[in-house]
Amino acid sequence: MGDPKAEDILLREGQPEDSTLDQTLRPKRFDDFIGQERVKENLLIYIKAARGRKEPLDHILFSGPPGLGKTTLACIIAHEMGAELKSTSGPAIEKAGDLAGLLTKLREGDVLFIDEIHRISATVEEYLYSAMEDYVIDIILDQGPSARSVRIPLPRFTLVGSTTREGLLTAPFRGRFGVVERLDFYPWQDLFQIALNSAKALNIPIEEPGAEEIAKRSRGTPRLVNRFLRRLRDMAQVLAKGVITKSVAESGLDRLGVDQRGLGAMDRRIIETILRMRGQPVGLKTIAVTVGEEEDTIEDVYEPYLIQAGYLDKTPRGRIATEAAIRDYGNDLGGRKAKSLF
Ligand SMILES: Nc1ncnc2c1ncn2[C@@H]1O[C@H](COP(=O)(O)OP(=O)(O)O)[C@@H](O)[C@H]1O
Ligand SMILES: [Mg+2]
Repeated sequence: MGDPKAEDILLREGQPEDSTLDQTLRPKRFDDFIGQERVKENLLIYIKAARGRKEPLDHILFSGPPGLGKTTLACIIAHEMGAELKSTSGPAIEKAGDLAGLLTKLREGDVLFIDEIHRISATVEEYLYSAMEDYVIDIILDQGPSARSVRIPLPRFTLVGSTTREGLLTAPFRGRFGVVERLDFYPWQDLFQIALNSAKALNIPIEEPGAEEIAKRSRGTPRLVNRFLRRLRDMAQVLAKGVITKSVAESGLDRLGVDQRGLGAMDRRIIETILRMRGQPVGLKTIAVTVGEEEDTIEDVYEPYLIQAGYLDKTPRGRIATEAAIRDYGNDLGGRKAKSLF
């Protein structure tokens, strides 16, 4: 079913086609940001309060799996604060000097967005502490005996960090964010609305049952809804006079390797690897080697949804498959009946 490579393209971040798609479809105001009501309400309160006090917003950390709207929220926040957004990412800030360069270019109230903030180096992280807390940065000039440190005052800015791995942040770092918001997978009803909105923005004719099918098979992830829409548009042109009907969505998603429960080939390979161990907990390394994927990618991209969907459990001794995994995927194991595995 489907080409496994095609499915990898569908789940990875940072595809060139994605960045243009993300840009075009990225909501610019809270009103267009569907779902995540609790997060939105909280943010609106903080923004209103900060604006009322004419103060910059507290530093904010967004965590959650890829494609759920972290970058989008950073953009919306800057927009709502009437502030400028400067974006960078953890791995891009190599030295303290890079950080100082970024920070000294900010103006009062600006938002500095750091993507993948868990990948920032330990040295840079320490420089960030005083920047976040006291709006100063101490830079060391010269080396050896003549070394001295100069304190540079910074404008009061807001740091918005984004991470798929909140657990990798050190406690002191995490503690410096006044607001920490976790984004969860979206219920299909929200994704249905996103599918309709995006189809409209991209001028893609779609029928509601088609949008529902996409929503139910998008792993709770808005970015996937948008990716699927684009892919299905081509199939619709050939198969159904350009309209994404339910049957176009069904056959198109099948072709992309996405099954009826919304899992892709890599998801299924992970589940099957664990099922083959006949109830023994399986280590992340073993899974990574067996399915041919990086450990980090498995933990960040695939597992969160498999856990949420109830197919996989993490235990201290390793990953185990659930009853639901046996029920839904046990039969795929070379025709052997799942129950006999245990
Ligand atoms: N709540 C939402 N409502 C509408 N579209 C969304 C929402 N969240 C994400 N998207 C869409 O998904 C794309 C990916 O979101 P993004 O913010 O880049 O995710 P993340 O930074 O968490 O990986 C956005 O460009 C946008 O088109
Ligand atoms: Mg992002």
